[in-house]
Amino acid sequence: MKATLAIPKNYNNVAAFHEKLAASKRILAVCGAGLSAASGLPTFRGAGGLWRNYDATELATPGAFRQDPVLVWLFYAYRRHMALKAKPNAGHHALAALAKKMPEFLCLSQNVDNLHPRANHPDDQLKLLHGSLFDIKCFNKSCGWIEHHNYADPFCPALVAASEDVEPGKALPLLDPKQKLAKIPESELPKCPSCKTGLQRPGVVWFGEQLDEQMLRDIDAWIDRHVVDMVLVIGTSSVVYPAAGYAEKARTEGHTSVVTVNLDAATPENLYQLEDEDFAFAGDAVVLLPQLLEPVIGPANGDGTYE
Ligand code: APR
Repeated sequence: MKATLAIPKNYNNVAAFHEKLAASKRILAVCGAGLSAASGLPTFRGAGGLWRNYDATELATPGAFRQDPVLVWLFYAYRRHMALKAKPNAGHHALAALAKKMPEFLCLSQNVDNLHPRANHPDDQLKLLHGSLFDIKCFNKSCGWIEHHNYADPFCPALVAASEDVEPGKALPLLDPKQKLAKIPESELPKCPSCKTGLQRPGVVWFGEQLDEQMLRDIDAWIDRHVVDMVLVIGTSSVVYPAAGYAEKARTEGHTSVVTVNLDAATPENLYQLEDEDFAFAGDAVVLLPQLLEPVIGPANGDGTYE
């Protein structure tokens, strides 16, 4: 039997969204890699999710690092290099501007690329769920050493291949799976300066690892404090938890609008899950966010900033 899709008639109506926005005081955003796509950074599960024939998510585990720390470090050194070259886009700027206008706006981001902070998003209204590429930790769990704001590029001399700049249109040799990786001895990766035994590793949360407990408690406390009027779910495939669970966690039925902003937002299976008060806008976050938030943040400057 054919299922009937009960799609709310206003689901992609900007005027209806603006009405809800005008009545909203507490907004939560949950962001993913799609937000940074317009800054030139690849997403994980779409095209570009492969790195040298490796599924990017397979390299993001403690097991992968234990097995081949040089390979995993090359992957992260490359991502650091790309993130340093990228610039925050109009979507990051629009969210930072919303935070400045609305004290009760909290932005949760799965992105580790540092583009939210670089858009001057206020620190106390931003939770980096999966850490940062620019934090460095000790792989030895019992050590606890961490260094923040490490922007070294290349990260260390042994990883210089990840920071090569090539002519536009040419591929970085490191990214070509047909070219063999030069042998880099593990001994050339930097060790922890504190315990002197563990390898340094990126300060991101890998699959199978816990998110920062205090951060999770703070987010829960924020959600529980008062009713949340709106949850913006931006550029994420919503498959990785706990991030994927926050929209429903923050929902007060019949009141909270969950607003999806995603290239894929118009696919039938996504629309099928919409409640009457929800919205879904299909398109590029870099275009949609400035338009959707304009009644609160005003028009952007020519370069996408608001300051
Ligand atoms: N604008 C809006 N949405 C976009 C855009 C864009 N320009 N480009 C891509 N998207 C959407 C895709 O349709 C997809 O739904 O962004 C989503 C990206 O999904 P993923 O690649 O799965 O990224 P994300 O949801 O952030 O992944 C979560 O998984 O690998 C881990 O730790 C990693 O933080 C990451 C987590």
